[in-house]
Amino acid sequence: MAGKLMHAVQYERYGGGVAGLKHVQIPIPSPKRDEVLIKLEAVSLNPADWKIQKGLLRPFMPRKFPFIPATDVAGEVVGAGPGVHKFKAGDKVVAFFNPFTGGGLAEYAVVSENRTVARPEEVQPHQAAGLPIAGLTALMAITQSAGLKLDGPDPNDPVQLAKLANAHVPATCGSRNIDLVRSLGADEVLDYTTAEGATLASPSGRKYDVVIHCANGIAFSRLEPRLSENGRVICVNADARTMWDYAVKTITLSKKKLVPLVMIPKAENLETMVNLMKEGKIKTVIDSRHELSKAEEGWAKCMDGHATGKIIVEP
Ligand SMILES: NC(=O)c1ccc[n+]([C@@H]2O[C@H](COP(=O)([O-])OP(=O)(O)OC[C@H]3O[C@@H](n4cnc5c(N)ncnc54)[C@H](OP(=O)(O)O)[C@@H]3O)[C@@H](O)[C@H]2O)c1
Repeated sequence: MAGKLMHAVQYERYGGGVAGLKHVQIPIPSPKRDEVLIKLEAVSLNPADWKIQKGLLRPFMPRKFPFIPATDVAGEVVGAGPGVHKFKAGDKVVAFFNPFTGGGLAEYAVVSENRTVARPEEVQPHQAAGLPIAGLTALMAITQSAGLKLDGPDPNDPVQLAKLANAHVPATCGSRNIDLVRSLGADEVLDYTTAEGATLASPSGRKYDVVIHCANGIAFSRLEPRLSENGRVICVNADARTMWDYAVKTITLSKKKLVPLVMIPKAENLETMVNLMKEGKIKTVIDSRHELSKAEEGWAKCMDGHATGKIIVEP
């Protein structure tokens, strides 16, 4: 592939949103010793991608420009460095790129072997690409932070996984997604756009042992009265207020706990999720699929914050 060009989408500075994305022709990267070169088939976008562009993690990410965003991909291995032992050309894979280096919005990308997992033929690329950030965050929240054990042989959203843990699952969503969330296994559904749903009280009157908190602008103080005696809120969206509440609850040895969660991706966890998908136990809910030439459409949807499931870009 040396010397050949590929289509990629990159940005050259912080900010700019959709208008900051530029379509370019650049050389196909060459894999280093422990890297594979993947021909990308599907890439999923996450809120982290536009937040990094916006500069919320500056100066750590991106470290340098131009920057090709997106980290969650599925595709086929087309080359490998001399130190790669697990994969060869022709293998179908799913991978999570280092967010410091990105690289997903392109036709080809290189990634370390240990960030790459085999993808069985039953698992479609657009389904697999939805797994890394969203799926691994759900898995970590359910198994590690909430301490639940998944049923079945070692196991995309928290509702599906919580049901695999045999939990009683109330879930919140907007009106248009109530049927969908029920179909994923939620036992009770609160519509957050109604006055009743906004109270966050369980329709059955139960107190919550665990809340996996993914929304913006809902303080711990609103959830605390809804918790059982030793209940905990696992917050994937921690801001300064969350960290203050966390410090207060920790110092005062509160029985009701606030647990900020930062997902740490691990290949073994991605393998678990891929196997669950192969067995038909979980699926990625897809909001929309976009060609790489129209990546801006997906980026705009992601920034809008009202996607129903994953936004997929297909090179
Ligand atoms: N800590 C970590 O490691 C980590 C990992 C992954 C994600 N995150 C963060 O978690 C957040 C959620 O990520 P995401 O990928 O799920 O984002 P997303 O796809 O943009 O979420 C959009 C969905 O959230 C729904 N929603 C918005 N406000 C809601 C509320 N108050 N109650 C119930 N549903 C609500 C929207 O419904 P409507 O369209 O009906 O409003 C829409 O369906 C983001 O801020 C992301 O950065 C953190």
